Amino acid sequence: MKILVTGGAGYIGSVAVEQLISAGESVVVLDNLCQGHRQAVHPQATLVVAELENRQAIDEVMTTHRPDAVMHFASHTLVGESMQQPFRYLGTNVVNGLNLLQSMAEHGVRRFILSSTANLFDQPERMPIDETERIVPGSPYGESKYMLERLLPWLEKIYGMRYAMLRYFNAAGATPERGEDHNPELHLIPIVLGVALGQRESVTIFGEDYPTPDGTCVRDYIHVSDLARAHILALAALEKESRVYNLGNGRGYSVRQVIETARRLTGHAIPALMGSRRAGDPAVLVGSSRKIERELGWRPQFDSIESIVESAWRWHQRFPKGYQG
Ligand code: UFG
Repeated sequence: MKILVTGGAGYIGSVAVEQLISAGESVVVLDNLCQGHRQAVHPQATLVVAELENRQAIDEVMTTHRPDAVMHFASHTLVGESMQQPFRYLGTNVVNGLNLLQSMAEHGVRRFILSSTANLFDQPERMPIDETERIVPGSPYGESKYMLERLLPWLEKIYGMRYAMLRYFNAAGATPERGEDHNPELHLIPIVLGVALGQRESVTIFGEDYPTPDGTCVRDYIHVSDLARAHILALAALEKESRVYNLGNGRGYSVRQVIETARRLTGHAIPALMGSRRAGDPAVLVGSSRKIERELGWRPQFDSIESIVESAWRWHQRFPKGYQG
């Protein structure tokens, strides 16, 4: 099969490309290299540098490469930023997704996998959160993903386009070759490891007055290779029907627990300062992935926070300057 991967130079997308190539698929990456890195793209994939705002560029990729399926990772993805710059999300994220979907519809591409998010579940009634949970987006970021999710059943009805909506909890960890390298880096684990590498003085904990056991936010960290593998399984499963899955480990760790884990693994004191809450952060997000386990046999191979942080630590030690190094 030929797969078009938007955002295939980014953190999760590049690992999905790595796995698709290992599985013998042919891959075209569409990325504007704004957050992504040329070096992250697997050498056997074809890289097209273009903007999803540019419909003509997308059409050209569809005509030239004739993909059988699209995995759509390219997106603005920061919960906090979306509370400051909502139109990057409610505007750009949605319009870019629409451009891609419209081009697919017009070029007869009938398989679509959307990177969706746990930020759909701001007020969960049950924990861990499964696919039947009420959707209440927690930020313009979550709303932008929900807006795209809501289009998909229509496109299935009208064009027969099968879709998988994969709602990630907190992506983390690294493969030996590919890891997390954002600029600026705003995610907890790379920030904490940046302190251990001596690149930062300290980490600031965003709020200690949440209704959680130690007062800091609890998240479900899921390894990037486990996430990528879910895409490969979901793609094959689209032959039968469309899919919606939550992807998490089913266990939550507080910000303090993540910092403690990193202290143990790195042997560094990792000073932590107390800061105020970050807008848009829910107190607890823990996912249930029972459905994808049951239906597709997916199980996270990295099922402890230690193994996840350890894989990231190895990558950051090997590439202390990220992809520039
Ligand atoms: N945090 C800190 N200090 C920091 C950075 C983060 O205390 O310097 C806290 C956050 O407040 C949050 C937790 O660490 O409670 C994790 O924060 P991240 O920024 O690493 O990740 P988020 O939970 O904000 O968001 C991530 C993805 C989103 C996705 C979400 C799903 O970036 O795209 O997981 O749960 F929607």
